Amino acid sequence: LKPSRFMNSINKNDIKVFRTENSKLDQTDFENLAFGQVFSDHMLTCDFKDGIWQKPIIEPYGPISLMPSAKIFHYGQSIFEGMKAYKDKDGKVFLFRPMENVKRLNKSAKRLAIPELPEDFFMEGLKALLEVEKDWIPEKEGSSLYIRPFVFATGEGFHASPANQYKFIIALAPSGAYFAGKVKVLIEEKYSRSANGGVGYAKAGGNYAGQFYPTQLAKDKGYQQVIWTDDTSHEYIEEAGAMNVFVRIKDTLLTSPTSDRILDGVTRKSVLKIAEDEGIKTEVRKVKVSEIVEAAKNGDLKEMFGAGTAAVISPISGFGFRDDDFDLPELENSYAMRIKKRIVDIQTNKAEDPFGWRVQV
Ligand code: COI
Repeated sequence: LKPSRFMNSINKNDIKVFRTENSKLDQTDFENLAFGQVFSDHMLTCDFKDGIWQKPIIEPYGPISLMPSAKIFHYGQSIFEGMKAYKDKDGKVFLFRPMENVKRLNKSAKRLAIPELPEDFFMEGLKALLEVEKDWIPEKEGSSLYIRPFVFATGEGFHASPANQYKFIIALAPSGAYFAGKVKVLIEEKYSRSANGGVGYAKAGGNYAGQFYPTQLAKDKGYQQVIWTDDTSHEYIEEAGAMNVFVRIKDTLLTSPTSDRILDGVTRKSVLKIAEDEGIKTEVRKVKVSEIVEAAKNGDLKEMFGAGTAAVISPISGFGFRDDDFDLPELENSYAMRIKKRIVDIQTNKAEDPFGWRVQV
């Protein structure tokens, strides 16, 4: 399943562009953007067939046609990435640590028996697409162009085995904030997001589908998200909804180590790096639910937050555990807000980038 020896290198100028005659740019309200609800005019598409990834093209964003027997519908070979493009005040366009997403897409591909994509196809394809779509990048603070690269099985067959054809698409959605309002979470002890030896570390569509039902149950009880715990003992926290999770006990910032079960989040590792740079003590270790409950009771629990590309950092206002509810204090100078500002300032070219994370397109 390695990329073919042929056609594994491409330059953005080689990518053919088929332009739409009906741009939606004028009808788009950039002042009131929700998250991932409106889509730009064009998308990048690239097919895998005859054993190789074919040349990507840029075409109008629109419906795609698939056979009912396409294996995506039956066996769920589907993976994705999430990233963002930002525009600074001079109109320069930036990505944030994009190679992390390219590499992770191929890690996910490998786990789902999907042929890996040559890195150039992704990066050069994305650059070419952003050149065509640069007017879709919001300039408003707190907004950005959400980028959704994804791969799924288009090849046909009811046999439960990997497909022989796939499609890679990059679609773009100018977006505002992911969460509106406070996020209260429920510590989940029955359902699991992932298991040892499973696909939890991959960004597989099915990982998210499996979260919807338990999250719906939590919503019915008045929470917005679930804190996932380990599948064997349910004693350790692992992720918060679709994000990695951080806990501040006294002045130490804690997060679980990545594993088979936990996604290696780009924001997660950026938070750790910034925290270190800010002189905040961090510990990457298993975090017990009982430790959090105890800290909430004695006042040592200062903050909890989710970290992911979509929301960047999302403070948690309180959590439920069994029959108890715990509120978190509202801090003036929270780690969450301090670290978020540093990350966003780097992303949007408002601050120095000592780590070399920002990539100009
Ligand atoms: C994130 O960016 O936090 C994600 O996991 C993607 C989300 C839209 C599902």
